[in-house]
Amino acid sequence: MMEQDIQQVLFNEEQLKTRVAELARQIERDYAGKTPMLISVLRGSFIFMADLCRALQLPCTLDFMSVSSYGKGTSSTGQVQITKDLSEDIAGRDILVVEDILDSGNTLSYLLKILENRRPASIRLCTLLDKPERRVKPVTVDYTGFAIPDAFVVGYGLDYAEKYRNLPYIGILKPEVYGG
Ligand code: PRP
Repeated sequence: MMEQDIQQVLFNEEQLKTRVAELARQIERDYAGKTPMLISVLRGSFIFMADLCRALQLPCTLDFMSVSSYGKGTSSTGQVQITKDLSEDIAGRDILVVEDILDSGNTLSYLLKILENRRPASIRLCTLLDKPERRVKPVTVDYTGFAIPDAFVVGYGLDYAEKYRNLPYIGILKPEVYGG
């Protein structure tokens, strides 16, 4: 069972739901009168995106992209490749990038630059989790769910070796599972 691999539940379903609703209220205030395009960076953010967009009482459109970081073990290297691009043009749109976790900042600093070159009206970043102490590249975050310590977290979209994404909560993985 997946539960046996979890050392500690960091955020349970109720806590996640409450925080997602708070973020949604903040986003609604900031985007009042606008129709933002929410961009989910696959795959980790798919559950957060699904919950956040349903909590938002605001017209919005959704799009998805996928990137891969070369040489990524437990941290990314800064070399990022787009493996699935957006379906829509973002020129003139108000973009909200939705991420599950911000770590070194390598992926997001690169991605935000690419998106800025496509001339959106505005671009902001919403991340459910942030590990500020791991930052290598500076990234401006507009909405943060939770700042967390540098622990190996899984669930609610986040994986270890592609497993645990379907856990409904966020937990810290036991070190023996990943050989830490
Ligand atoms: C995670 C996360 C970010 C990135 C953050 O994705 O979704 O895209 O890592 O790390 P960084 O700040 O060090 O660049 P991951 O590569 O694990 O892919 P996944 O979303 O498909 O699990």
